[in-house]
Amino acid sequence: FSFHASTEEKISFWLSKYPEERKRSAVIPLLWLAQKDNAGWLSEPAMREVADRLEMPYIRVYEVATFYTMFRLQPVGQHHIQLCGTTPCMLRGANDLKEVCEKVIGSKGQVNETGRLSWEEVECLGACVNAPVVQINDYYYEDLTSETLEEVLRKLDSGVDVAPGTFVKRHKSAPEGDAV
Ligand code: FES
Repeated sequence: FSFHASTEEKISFWLSKYPEERKRSAVIPLLWLAQKDNAGWLSEPAMREVADRLEMPYIRVYEVATFYTMFRLQPVGQHHIQLCGTTPCMLRGANDLKEVCEKVIGSKGQVNETGRLSWEEVECLGACVNAPVVQINDYYYEDLTSETLEEVLRKLDSGVDVAPGTFVKRHKSAPEGDAV
């Protein structure tokens, strides 16, 4: 593993925030950058590179990487789906979305045959107003149904991009003067 050349500037930015003798304070942002440069997950070589850069023991980097759920220690698909299964999303159909993930992608935590998709279940993504929600890489796909999620996944799996955002037309606002 090595960081992309274009990431070096970002590493310098984070290191500049801390005194030289405290540079290990940048471990979280450097792990995040390493994950981005390593196809969405942290391999041992990627974590060792972070440890070398910060002059800290590998085990300390590993401890941080295994504590936070946003760091992944197994390979993921090119598009990694985080399906919210917390109560508001569950009440709005998250279990149906889970079935779609199982049907189109396969078991939770596995990368599908094309290498394009993987999925996991996560806790509240903080967008309950537009439940049910999934996060795909860095973006939210909201107000989903089984049909719309399946369409999104099949497109992504065939190499077609799908814009994030809501998947229902917004409700018309109430006529002026109406009590809400
Ligand atoms: Fe799903 Fe909050 S419960 S976004």
